[in-house]
Amino acid sequence: MQFPKEVTIIEVGPRDGIQNIKKFIETKCKTGLINDLSRTGLKRIEVTSFVHPKAIPQMEDAAEVLSGIQKCKEIRYCVLVPNKMGAKLALEARAEELTFVVSASESHNKSNVRRTIEESIEEFTEINELCIKHDAWLRGSIATVFGCPFEGRVEPQKVRDLAEKLIEKGAKEINLCDTTGMGNPILVRQVITEIQKISNDINLAVHFHNTRGVGIANILTALSEGVSTVETSIGGLGGCPFAPGATGNVATEDLVNLLDDMEINTGINLDKLIDCAKRFQPYVDAKLGEHVLYAGPTYSSYSTECSLKLNRIKEDCDV
Ligand code: COA
Ligand code: ZN
Repeated sequence: MQFPKEVTIIEVGPRDGIQNIKKFIETKCKTGLINDLSRTGLKRIEVTSFVHPKAIPQMEDAAEVLSGIQKCKEIRYCVLVPNKMGAKLALEARAEELTFVVSASESHNKSNVRRTIEESIEEFTEINELCIKHDAWLRGSIATVFGCPFEGRVEPQKVRDLAEKLIEKGAKEINLCDTTGMGNPILVRQVITEIQKISNDINLAVHFHNTRGVGIANILTALSEGVSTVETSIGGLGGCPFAPGATGNVATEDLVNLLDDMEINTGINLDKLIDCAKRFQPYVDAKLGEHVLYAGPTYSSYSTECSLKLNRIKEDCDV
């Protein structure tokens, strides 16, 4: 298996991570989290979404969040939009990067954004024109790529056709999302191979929910297929209220730890990232993280327990 030397992680905790949390998190806690994340070495962060406040009440302070963060020059901050009105509001709030979301399955698109896929694509064309006017960067995020909670399997060709339309209409990056964790490494390879038939130059990103514990396996498969941009969420938070069974994303700290171990550069300081998750824990009712947040980074277990064991073995040998 071949892997890229560098991977860019897009942190989606402040948006996907908290959108499913019922209790409203104060705006200053959200901006505090984003400012904290900005100091970890992350290069891209999805900070909020301009959606209907009735659909996702947690995101009703989108404009305040976007204007309230301390932006670092070297970090790209993006926001999610589901329709033209969301794009207008985002651009008014001076968003520089927009992620437009459309599903690969008709039923999920209806449930999520109350539109047919065709209607969403038509709106995407108008959003692209708005983005050109405002000099904003636009990407297309495709939900339910690896399976739909209403329709089941989604054909890779269908995903390719949708990606092709989004690229034709101006998407600068395609984000393949496993909304409810239905993917597996074979399917991931099939979908990426299918998308690469459009062109080898497409900027591809992947986003895997860890619903069935195969998120990391899917990410590694995507990386071995040439993808080098991955969306994850601090503490593994996440879920979509319009997709039954959707649970958390792959945790950013788990992926950074693994990539560190594999000597794949992310530019992220794992200790700072772990601190960030721990500081945010009191503001959410969900338990953050499962693996690295509790076990600690691999190097830490080596430097403490393993070195103690080594010393003991050495002593035994001396005897
Ligand atoms: N932000 C805020 N308000 C919005 C809006 C947006 N992006 N889009 C539409 N509205 C308002 C309209 O102004 C209108 O208001 P009014 O009733 O006061 O006149 C009302 O919503 C209805 O507009 P319509 O275009 O018919 O929207 P809708 O009711 O069909 O809702 C979405 C469509 C896309 C806005 C809504 O389904 C949504 O926000 N979905 C988000 C899903 C999501 O975030 N999923 C998780 C991430 S993948
Ligand atoms: Zn998601």
